[in-house]
Amino acid sequence: MDKEPELLRIGAEHELGAELMAAKRPTLLALADFEFERLQARSDIAWAHSLFTHLPMEHIQRCLTNLRRAMPRGGVLYATFGECDEPKDNPAEPHDHRLFEFTRAEMTEVGCATGWCVEHLGKWGHPRGHRMLKFTPKSRRTA
Ligand SMILES: C[S@@+](CC[C@H](N)C(=O)[O-])C[C@H]1O[C@@H](n2cnc3c(N)ncnc32)[C@H](O)[C@@H]1O
Repeated sequence: MDKEPELLRIGAEHELGAELMAAKRPTLLALADFEFERLQARSDIAWAHSLFTHLPMEHIQRCLTNLRRAMPRGGVLYATFGECDEPKDNPAEPHDHRLFEFTRAEMTEVGCATGWCVEHLGKWGHPRGHRMLKFTPKSRRTA
């Protein structure tokens, strides 16, 4: 899923290639509002690399809320984020070329509020030091 259809086309052509596309027949959806219910199959693993680094908190919250509804128990989301020590005034609107940063506490709070257990995996070798988070669904009873 990406908001830019052209990036999906390039990904299919250059990253996956014809052979893998034919073998796996992935669903590539151009959507900008995290409408995960449009995916026909439920994913048990999700990967958001360099996405939350370009979104204000309200959009991250929508993404996590919608994905939580679509993610079965036992599923997992790995997501990178730009970490800062103190809460920051990020831009109000998403921006593909500006860096949005959040504290670990802010990311944990939004994850918990949207039905996830959040584990901070920290540094993982990203060239600009972005950190990795692991989100697993809270059970409905504790959510
Ligand atoms: C920095 S790029 C990272 C691309 C890829 N994940 C990678 O790591 O190479 C951020 C991507 O997020 C996409 N994006 C930003 N906001 C989005 C949204 N609301 N819904 C879907 N995709 C979005 C952009 O179009 C862009 O492809």
